[in-house]
Amino acid sequence: MKRRPAAPFTAEIEGLTHDGRGISRVEGKVWFVEGALPGETVLVRPMRGRRSYSLGRAEKLFSESSERCTPCCPVFGTCGGCALQHLEHNAQVNFKRQTLLEALQKEGIAWTAPVEVISAEPWHYRRKARLGVRLVPKKGGILVGFRERHSSYITPLTTCPVIHPSVDSILAALPELVESLSVPSRIPQIEVAAGENATALIFRHLSPLTEEDVAKLTHFGRVNNMLMYGQANGPDSIQPVYPPDPALLQYALPDFSLTFYFRATSFVQVNALVNQQLVGTVIDWLAIGPDDRLLDLFCGIGNFSLPAARLARQVIGVEGDATLVQLAAENARWNGVKNAVFEARDLFDPELNHWRLPECSRLLLDPPRTGALEVLKRVINGPKPQLLAYVSCNPATLARDARFLTESQSYRLERLTVADMFPHTAHIESAALFRRVDNPGTGVSEKG
Ligand SMILES: C[S@@+](CC[C@H](N)C(=O)[O-])C[C@H]1O[C@@H](n2cnc3c(N)ncnc32)[C@H](O)[C@@H]1O
Repeated sequence: MKRRPAAPFTAEIEGLTHDGRGISRVEGKVWFVEGALPGETVLVRPMRGRRSYSLGRAEKLFSESSERCTPCCPVFGTCGGCALQHLEHNAQVNFKRQTLLEALQKEGIAWTAPVEVISAEPWHYRRKARLGVRLVPKKGGILVGFRERHSSYITPLTTCPVIHPSVDSILAALPELVESLSVPSRIPQIEVAAGENATALIFRHLSPLTEEDVAKLTHFGRVNNMLMYGQANGPDSIQPVYPPDPALLQYALPDFSLTFYFRATSFVQVNALVNQQLVGTVIDWLAIGPDDRLLDLFCGIGNFSLPAARLARQVIGVEGDATLVQLAAENARWNGVKNAVFEARDLFDPELNHWRLPECSRLLLDPPRTGALEVLKRVINGPKPQLLAYVSCNPATLARDARFLTESQSYRLERLTVADMFPHTAHIESAALFRRVDNPGTGVSEKG
């Protein structure tokens, strides 16, 4: 028997979830309300098809938050690419700052000093993305875009206000291109990566491309000045289509006179301008002098290692992805950096106990969402650098790891910043600086 949908009801919104939904408490039950902002009174339409009815959508606003703004994207609300376009940009940053503080508070860390903010142009910043592709005849054919929120359907996009302009300018042409291929229903995804020198499109194809397909992709690449790739299977199967020998993509860190080279599939920070500031801030925090040896864990292509190497005696970068390690070493060479070495290591491997963390006076960590607790346990029992900078894409694991560092009485939290790496989305990038406590009894740490 079908359950009848619950009736709409009025609710006051008290807060915002970590993924940008309004929070309301009605008759003792917590509701997460899409499209609603704190301070608003809204008519909530319970969302159907869920096991729990604690999810709803704001159907009507009875009173509006002063921080509400009009989303500039016509598919905002459906498209899963953004979650916060209805909130003014400054308020988004405040929300992220507050979420970071709450995550720390949950772990017993009351931070009362200012949280610094790194921010830049909030539109057209996204230099990497995975676009879904789907053949849906009743919607007119091929759809290209991000997945819808909470579903695997594709939101067709002809323009996107957050994606890099070079990709935005060709979005509308992609469905026609895919449709012209011999196997339109066998192209599930197009990965895009924009460098400062070129933009790459990688077409995942589940059936082989014909000569004619290659000719069409080549023509598109030539006309639109794009690097075109095909991908038959996993990442190792990526092959250039046009030109036959494409250049690597590039981005610069002008303050350090560095140019980084990367592949379309390499991890790079999504937002070039925020990345420049984040690297500058973290390197500044670490007060690196010519005698310092810095260990950069989860170093990727050396985004932090090479700037640090400009100041340090030596930098050791460690990273799990061997292709990134190779690029990091090559980037060092191409930039004339001679005091940086890179190692490929799975930093989450339990067998890692056989590996002694190198002695260092400075440590930088930029782990994936899961954080770096196991690694930090080894730091506490190992080199215990004087300054430790932790860059994070997940406030919950940063807070957990901060608690471990401070409760061990080995470190105290000294600086905190939120970096607006992903404007209009609910993702939160942040960084923290920890200083070793040399005399835990007094809480006094060695300076310098
Ligand atoms: C947030 S990215 C940071 C990369 C780099 N610091 C940057 O700024 O470009 C996290 C990095 O951790 C690496 N990683 C993920 N799991 C790992 C593991 N188990 N061992 C070592 N590195 C890992 C990823 O390959 C990725 O390069």
